[in-house]
Amino acid sequence: MELPFAEAWKIKMVEPIRKSSREEREVWLREAHNNVFMLKSEQVYIDLLTDSGTGAMSDRQWAAMMQGDESYGGARSFFRMKDTITSLTGFPYVIPTHQGRAAENVLFSYLVKPGQVIPGNAHFDTTKGHIESRKAFAVDVTIPEAKDTQLELPFKGNVSLELLEKVLKENPGNVPFMVLTVTNNTVGGQPVSMQNIRETCALCHKYGVPVNIDSARFVENAYFIKTREAGYADKTIREIVREMFSYADCMTMSAKKDALVNMGGFIATKREDWYEGAKLFCIPFEGFLTYGGMNGRDMEALAVGLEENCEFEMVETRIKQVHYLASKLDEYGIPYQRPAGGHAIFVDADKVLTNIPKEEFPAQTLTCELYLEAGIRACEIGYVLADRDPVTRENRFGGLDFVRLCIPRRVYTNNHMDVIAAALKNVYDRRDSIRRGLEITWEAELMRHFTCQFKRLG
Ligand code: F0G
Repeated sequence: MELPFAEAWKIKMVEPIRKSSREEREVWLREAHNNVFMLKSEQVYIDLLTDSGTGAMSDRQWAAMMQGDESYGGARSFFRMKDTITSLTGFPYVIPTHQGRAAENVLFSYLVKPGQVIPGNAHFDTTKGHIESRKAFAVDVTIPEAKDTQLELPFKGNVSLELLEKVLKENPGNVPFMVLTVTNNTVGGQPVSMQNIRETCALCHKYGVPVNIDSARFVENAYFIKTREAGYADKTIREIVREMFSYADCMTMSAKKDALVNMGGFIATKREDWYEGAKLFCIPFEGFLTYGGMNGRDMEALAVGLEENCEFEMVETRIKQVHYLASKLDEYGIPYQRPAGGHAIFVDADKVLTNIPKEEFPAQTLTCELYLEAGIRACEIGYVLADRDPVTRENRFGGLDFVRLCIPRRVYTNNHMDVIAAALKNVYDRRDSIRRGLEITWEAELMRHFTCQFKRLG
């Protein structure tokens, strides 16, 4: 008999979690203004808000933390981290930052000017925020097929070369760089193929436009290239990663994802001019160039985490768990962005809560229902997150409206996946009785979904 698949780790330390009653959750959700970001973590049973900084570190990472060099200048831990990044990516210049959006802030402070246009395959919200707050424009050039949630494509995060070329042609001299996000979080943790990375970078370079890879989940992207793209099955994750970055000019990294740490980030680039320009913004925003918002011990853990996650069995364990959850939803007929992505399942709320109009935010409503059902905290990746159009101030209803079930790395077991699926099935089975959604009662001007307040209608 063939042995079944099991995790490539065993558990050395546990953190107790607690269930709650529906009555308790009703009160807590009301107090949180129907925004699950506002809940206390103790009010949550299974937390799928994000996979960002929520993973479990290994014994090797904890051991490395003891060797952190906390020197202000020239810390040994910085050089250890930098050497690891350079050997993985080929980028010689590294600027540490405290997380991904800080890397964006530092780099974009140098690169982005008002009125410029920055194309990308579905910019993450902080990326978009850092562009729009500088009065520049983020233009989405993801393949249009990504919007059809039931279409099975191996690389649904790809860039449409046609859409990209149109932006490049129409904005000569006004595109400072392109953002290529791997995996493409916003459309469902969908990967980008090596061919698409290569062709996207070549097209940008033809127009003299450099490419910055938003690399938060680059290892997961490499896993999909290895398992789905012809010619890569026999390559190691490290070889694939090296090739991915070889085509680009720069990367911004949220180390809270694929570097398996709770906090950290960096910019790495082959462009000396970008390094020289960006580093001047690192000092006032993040800190001196050899720590940039991180402790020495954090940089040690980050270096070990990067190495560790590039072991095939580690990333395979992670993705197989996400796909296990997907198989449960398949069993129950619950629609999600197909095929399942790398870090999360993106439930297609528009197709679940068909009674609820866009104006009442179906995905945010479903997020609340799932919390009330079982204390599971998911995250809306939809119309609330999309913010308003910076010019017209209208809600942006043009995209997808997802509930993201985001799986932290090395934290939950497949028993938890079973609970998540069953809770969602219970909500799904009573979907027709959910007739009204939510109304926004307060919102911030930019990146509203973290703090937005809602009223339940009906
Ligand atoms: N880029 C991508 C693709 C991301 O998913 C994130 C964060 C960032 C940049 C910003 O990094 O959080 O370290 O500042 N995504 C998290 C999420 C928050 O839940 O998807 P950060």
